[in-house]
Amino acid sequence: MAILVLGGAGYIGSHTVYELIEAGRDVVVADNLLTGFREAVHPKARFYQLDIRDRGALDTLFQAEQIDGVIHFAASSQVGESMSNPLKYYDNNLYGTMVLLQAMTAHGVDKIVFSSTAATYGEPERVPILEDDRTVPTNCYGETKLSMERMMSWTSRAHGLRYVALRYFNACGAHPSGTIGEAHDPETHLIPLILQVPGGKREKISIFGDDYSTPDGTCIRDYIHVTDLAQAHILALDYLLHGGENNVFNLGNGVGFSVKQVIDVARKVTGHPIPAEICPRRAGDPAQLVASSEKAKSVLGWKPEYDSLETIVSSAWNWHKSHPNGYNT
Ligand code: UFG
Repeated sequence: MAILVLGGAGYIGSHTVYELIEAGRDVVVADNLLTGFREAVHPKARFYQLDIRDRGALDTLFQAEQIDGVIHFAASSQVGESMSNPLKYYDNNLYGTMVLLQAMTAHGVDKIVFSSTAATYGEPERVPILEDDRTVPTNCYGETKLSMERMMSWTSRAHGLRYVALRYFNACGAHPSGTIGEAHDPETHLIPLILQVPGGKREKISIFGDDYSTPDGTCIRDYIHVTDLAQAHILALDYLLHGGENNVFNLGNGVGFSVKQVIDVARKVTGHPIPAEICPRRAGDPAQLVASSEKAKSVLGWKPEYDSLETIVSSAWNWHKSHPNGYNT
């Protein structure tokens, strides 16, 4: 029996496939390669190039493979783009998930772990954020992810599907081997953008606002290593395989770092001065997002290994140094 990883050529998906293969699992990867990279797919995984909105392609896959459970990363994930092109998010994230659930139901595949996000909470009522805190997304990306959670819940009631939604905080870092890492085009995330300065691709890093109500005035986020996220997916899948009920888990380190602190860590790790410039706030950024991941720890037995920001930034730097143009090098 195999595990199907949808979006397994993307950033978090490719790292999860590496951990699954390392754990001796049989893995099938499907990805439309619009934002993912064929080179990121582990050579031991069986690969299908398909779009989850293509029901015929999903039917062919489910007929050809014995799928025990699905891990679903195949979605659009840029907050800014979701505001300028919301219907793309409804199409890829919601319609895509609907077609996937129809195919799973038809083929009797009833377990799914999928990427949700801290963006489902919107502006948090308090930090650290707990799973049953209010969810009022402030962008269309978070809205579609919350709707995906609800789609799973209704499908579960009707058809017996069981699901785990994993709400990630700020995914970062790269595989310790340096073989795979973060490669987005355009890049919008803080750590890879900072590392473009010592990498010689950018002169300085912009700090989006230093007038937030935080100790140094810059936004605070909870940075979690991609390999720790990958491990959580495997634990969540095993939880479902062992009969676990529908559930939602936050995944973060539970420690917040400000934008200025992240830049300082990158200066230390790279030995580069990394000039920074204060710029206006970016629309829609909450001042602080920090997870309580106690539930994932107690229910799934999750133990993040990369709890030092220095180690996280070092692993990212290792990848970017050896792949200055991502997978196109
Ligand atoms: N930032 C800068 N300068 C930059 C880029 C980012 O100051 O050049 C700041 C942002 O304003 C923010 C912090 O760095 O305060 C982190 O920004 P990212 O874009 O790296 O990450 P976000 O916190 O905005 O978003 C991440 C994921 C989203 C997810 C969200 C959930 O990328 O997919 O967390 O909170 F929705």
